[in-house]
Amino acid sequence: MKEKVEQLKAEIEQFEVNSVETLEKFRIAFLGSKGALKDLFGELKTVANEQKREAGQLVNGLRQFAQEKFDAQKESLESVQDSGNKIDTTRPGDSLEVGSRHPLSLVRSEIIEIFSRIGFTVSEGPEIEDDWHNFSALNFPAEHPARDMQDTFFIEKGSDPKSEMALRTHTSSVQVRVMENEKPPIRTISPGRVYRNEAISARAHCFFHQVEGLYIDKDVSFADLKQTLMYFAKEMFGDKAQIRLRPSYFPFTEPSAEVDVSCTICNSKGCNVCKYTGWLEILGCGMVDPNVLESSNIDSTVYSGFAFGMGVERIAQLKYRVNDLRLYSENDVRFLKQFTAGY
Ligand code: PHE
Repeated sequence: MKEKVEQLKAEIEQFEVNSVETLEKFRIAFLGSKGALKDLFGELKTVANEQKREAGQLVNGLRQFAQEKFDAQKESLESVQDSGNKIDTTRPGDSLEVGSRHPLSLVRSEIIEIFSRIGFTVSEGPEIEDDWHNFSALNFPAEHPARDMQDTFFIEKGSDPKSEMALRTHTSSVQVRVMENEKPPIRTISPGRVYRNEAISARAHCFFHQVEGLYIDKDVSFADLKQTLMYFAKEMFGDKAQIRLRPSYFPFTEPSAEVDVSCTICNSKGCNVCKYTGWLEILGCGMVDPNVLESSNIDSTVYSGFAFGMGVERIAQLKYRVNDLRLYSENDVRFLKQFTAGY
């Protein structure tokens, strides 16, 4: 018995399995119902009683040995088949496409960062705004022609302008909300989207983005405003950047100014972007009109302040040389993926 087991073990070991067919032959020869192991189990009956236990263990061990070889060969044949037909494990994987940040988000983050360094917080307000916050509290009297400065998208128009609702035409509405809710000193910027009823072209769009600034405290002067804007221009456009203030008019500031920055595209030599003037307008600003402070219950005999509102697209145009406003909202990936994240 012992020799037979030994001999069969050698046969099992030597049996070459290299295909599905030879594996099946192996199974029939050793493990099948008419295979060598079946015979061997049959022979156990003839073994003398006192050797039965030992012989049984030997045969069982041999069957396990054969079964293990069968299982191992089967698995390796299957994996060869898999990799041959279905999966090439040497192929490079699909790479994950990393997105890029939108140029307007990049500029917005940079503006927030620059002002946060000098103590400005960020506040936001709704894009659907009532007449009070967008116009009346900002010293636009009803029927005042100044309301026509901004072509408004009205949502609800009524006989009484006080009940009207509109898409906000500027982020100055957030100034009013902040003044209503906070006590001076106030030092905040408000980034956001604004809407105006304009035909869409390379130079105008029906929505765009602004960042509003508001600073209210005792003894805030026009010099503080100029210095703050100068600091901003140099941080944003580099040390050589210069600013120029031109007298202007806004109902909510007095005096008011428009601010130009020296053209970074041609280094002020004159190009088609700055229309050969060397300057580009980036924001409107001024000292908060006392009427506006009083509308929000801030004592204008004690407090003064300045405000400004800048166009984010304008600044992005100077930074990235994009001079068609439509590109910012068309979501063409060929345009968008050129901007790398400067988180
Ligand atoms: N709200 C003005 C605009 O949209 C800009 C501005 C803001 C001017 C704050 C003065 C002060 O044109």
